[in-house]
Amino acid sequence: KRIDWSPVQAERGGYKHFMLKEIHEQPDVVEATLRGRIDLAAGDVHATEMGVTPEFAKELRRVYIVACGTSHHAGIAGRYWIEQLARVPTVVELASEVRYREPIFFPDDLVIAISQSGETADTIAALKAAKAQGAKVLALCNVLDSAIPRLSDGALYTHAGPEIGVASTKAFTTQLAALLLLAVYLGRRRDSLPAERGREILQALWEIPSHMREVLGDADYVHAIAKRLVHAKDVLFLGRGLGFPIALEGALKLKEISYAHAEGYAAGEMKHGPIALIDEALPVIVVCPRDAHYDKTFSNLQEVRAREGQVVAIATKGDESILEIAQHHVWIPKVPDEVGPLLTVLPLQLIAYYVANLKGNDVDQPRNLAKTVTVE
Ligand code: AGP
Repeated sequence: KRIDWSPVQAERGGYKHFMLKEIHEQPDVVEATLRGRIDLAAGDVHATEMGVTPEFAKELRRVYIVACGTSHHAGIAGRYWIEQLARVPTVVELASEVRYREPIFFPDDLVIAISQSGETADTIAALKAAKAQGAKVLALCNVLDSAIPRLSDGALYTHAGPEIGVASTKAFTTQLAALLLLAVYLGRRRDSLPAERGREILQALWEIPSHMREVLGDADYVHAIAKRLVHAKDVLFLGRGLGFPIALEGALKLKEISYAHAEGYAAGEMKHGPIALIDEALPVIVVCPRDAHYDKTFSNLQEVRAREGQVVAIATKGDESILEIAQHHVWIPKVPDEVGPLLTVLPLQLIAYYVANLKGNDVDQPRNLAKTVTVE
């Protein structure tokens, strides 16, 4: 039988673009992030390579996350988890801003530098500032032995494998998985997370790859939605709580590869400005799973509909109320709130991919962008 694939196509595993291949790899690579690190019986996490001793975990006063772009969005989700499960005050900063301020670090700070490449110049500069003031630095990276882990006191690797597409996908979901592991580790050391609750969260995380496969299996359905978004000049993404970083990430993905203007907003901020944008021409993508914030986000969705905005809801399977109000929806399976972001982001990655592909854009190498930003 004749083989029609070129070597490059073979590398893409039969997918048209690396980005699509990497989107579909996510269930497997998230498994790789979790492998060997979860102790279900104890409701606990093992990751000695982080260099965060039980004593330091117990005594640290603040977590300070620095990152750029997609890695920064993962950091925002990390903050929710660390505050909730480990009860440590946590801040998330854009590395590109930290380096131009006069930031203050303490020896009992845990500074986490999140970076897929491990080579982002701004993140390296922020990390060096933290180290110079005696803070403990943990690298949360994908590329082994890159600059950021080398400069840090310990590393938590995501094991996503090489990411070729400029638009980050599998790096993001593996960062989320690693951050949730870290939050459980800290919570168990600090006695803020009982073993039973730790076990529930880790069990849910362990089951996430199979749910991811289910969501990615609906890709054709998402393609149909993307066709309706292809001519949109502006798209608004809304989310609340753990849905907020996902809204930011959905907007960044669409912007990067489809060149449409997209804004990610905390749903609660809508009334403080962006509501003025809403009319029948504005698609609004709402991350609205049946989580603790559902009622509030649902009422935002009603406000959008009252102004004729076109709603695409990322919602929990079987949510009848969503069917009544949203013009389009993508279902995600019902999972515990903590692991929701690992699912809700998938349709948003696919929407960005299909819109860009329908426009005929160079998905893997969008204009003006570099995979790794090694300059200021
Ligand atoms: C993501 O799609 C972007 N290409 C970009 O924002 C990226 O996440 C950012 O440059 C940070 O890169 P890093 O994770 O390698 O540090």
